[in-house]
Amino acid sequence: MRMVDLIQKKRDGHALTEEEIGFVVTGYTQGTIPDYQMSAMLMAIYLVGMNDEETSQLTLAMARSGDVLDLSAIGGVKVDKHSTGGVGDKTSLIVAPLVASAGVPVAKMSGRGLGHTGGTVDKLESIRGFRVELTTEEFIRNVNEIKLALVGQSGNLAPADKKIYALRDVTATVSCIPLIASSIMSKKIASGADAIVLDVKVGAGAFMKDVEHARQLAETMVRIGRSLGRQTVAVLSDMDQPLGAEIGNAGEVREAIAVLQGGGPDDLREVSLALAAHMTVLGGAYPDFDAARAGLQQSLESGAALETFARFVAAQGGDAEQIRNPDQLPKAEREVKLAADEGGYVEFIDAEKVGLAAMLLGAGRQTKEDEIDYAVGVTLQRKVGDRVEAGDTLALLHANGPHDDGLAMLRSAYRIGPKPPAAKPLIYDVIQ
Ligand code: URA
Repeated sequence: MRMVDLIQKKRDGHALTEEEIGFVVTGYTQGTIPDYQMSAMLMAIYLVGMNDEETSQLTLAMARSGDVLDLSAIGGVKVDKHSTGGVGDKTSLIVAPLVASAGVPVAKMSGRGLGHTGGTVDKLESIRGFRVELTTEEFIRNVNEIKLALVGQSGNLAPADKKIYALRDVTATVSCIPLIASSIMSKKIASGADAIVLDVKVGAGAFMKDVEHARQLAETMVRIGRSLGRQTVAVLSDMDQPLGAEIGNAGEVREAIAVLQGGGPDDLREVSLALAAHMTVLGGAYPDFDAARAGLQQSLESGAALETFARFVAAQGGDAEQIRNPDQLPKAEREVKLAADEGGYVEFIDAEKVGLAAMLLGAGRQTKEDEIDYAVGVTLQRKVGDRVEAGDTLALLHANGPHDDGLAMLRSAYRIGPKPPAAKPLIYDVIQ
């Protein structure tokens, strides 16, 4: 087989076979296919597309390019969750213990973040002593006993995707649905999930800016999952403004705890309950969505989900006292107010700018080597639709170092107008 013939075949609009896709993925990962040929192939895929069979084969080939987690020693249906990412998205911190409290095992592999705030691992590491390096035996024992364990992503998870993604980034081939769908699904398949719930974020602060493209991506991923024997559900949820009020690692843990205590912001609680309800239905704990949602709501109100979270944190070396008393989580030295310049209604909050403001304070990494300051971040006191008067506090910055750039960025994120904006749904659609 020659790469040049496969590039030509794809360029001319034909579908590649399983064997041909395997050849491309293995060859590129091992270095026998050079960047220039892979770039041409990616552009041909970008322009011509891929059918469902090709997209599934690409997913499988990338999943098998490195470590594939074997979770067969854990009983029950292992349901994983993935978010396409957004600002203030701390749903994993809520959903994982909530689902586990319903008896559905959650064996999760999560990443560190590059960008606005940390990833789930970074957020959890704001809890004193928490560690994500578990031996396979510890991981499996904890899932069997507590129904929840979380480890950092193995460096060798879907290495083909890592290499291809880096090339897509510099060849203008990122925004291509078969390539995005196979990239996301390859990592979920490699992390051993039996069933998958996808939170596809839509809006100004998300990867997918409009519902139509988000739906196409969601449908493609659901079909891939199904064709590879994994029941998959995708929830299209809003990311026009940040989710919840807290952006920043320890602040996000505190807010997740508030939801696990039966409180917290409505938007965050609703999205978390919806995701967890779909997961527990796939896991067989409830017969349908409504029963699941009601049962899980009960679990928040009774403290059962919070107790699972505290046990999980303790089992991974973390200080569970900080979960029971979240005031003990890291706090920044200073609180700086962002006041409204004029009265009116909050029309829009640019999630990306809020994320950048948090990053400028030190909540995220600009390069892999950067150290995160867990204590810093932003609290949004006013969200879209809220009425404000001139001088009212819109948001707080939690700072340890300089804050002028963060404050200016946060100011530019808010748009105040004379009329309340039309209400938008929190969840646009569910694809299953
Ligand atoms: N996230 C991924 O993991 N892959 C993509 O291609 C895009 C977003």
